[in-house]
Amino acid sequence: MIKRILVASAICLMAVSAVVAAENMHDSREAAMKKIGGAMGGLSAIAKGEKPYDAATVKTSLTTISETIKVFPNYFPVGSEKDDEVASPKIWENMADFKAHADKLGADADTLLAQLPADQAAVGAAMGTLGKDCGSCHEIYRLKKK
Ligand code: HEC
Repeated sequence: MIKRILVASAICLMAVSAVVAAENMHDSREAAMKKIGGAMGGLSAIAKGEKPYDAATVKTSLTTISETIKVFPNYFPVGSEKDDEVASPKIWENMADFKAHADKLGADADTLLAQLPADQAAVGAAMGTLGKDCGSCHEIYRLKKK
C-alpha cells in the first residue's frame, strides 16, 4: 500500500516538474543566451583593448560558449512554441537546421579552445568567426521584440 502511494506521488511529481519546465523554457533560453552574450563581452573587451589579453579569460569565455550552446537546443521541446515571443516558430519547423546552427557555433568554439587565440588580434579574429555564427542563427530563428 505504502509502496503504491509512493509510486503514485512520484509520478505526480514528475508530471508537475514537466509542466514547470515547459513554463520556464523562455527563461532558460534567455538565461543561456545571456551567458553566451556575457562571454562574448569578455572577449570583446580584450579584442578592443579595453582589457589586457588574458588567456584564462579567453579560455573561460570560449568554454562557456561551447558548453552553453550545446545544451541550448534542449530548451526547445515540442510544444514549447507558445512560451516565447522572440523564438521564431521556424525553430520547430526546421529543428535539424536549428540544431546544425548550434552545432556550428559549438564546433567553432571547440576549435578555438584547441588552439587558444594567443593575443589581442587573434581574439578579434575569433570573435569574427563566432559572431557570424550568432548572426546567421539570429537572422533566421530569433524574432525582434515587439
Ligand atoms: C542556434 C541558434 C543561435 C545561435 C548560434 C546563437 N543564438 Fe542568440 N538567440 C537565439 C534565439 C532563438 C534567441 C531568442 C531566445 C529567447 O529569448 O527565447 C537568442 C537570443 C539572444 C540574446 C538575447 C537574450 C535576451 O536577453 O533576451 C542574446 C544577447 C544572444 N542571443 C546572444 C548570442 C551570441 C553572442 C551568440 C554567438 C556567440 C548567439 N547568441 C548565438 C538563437 C541563437
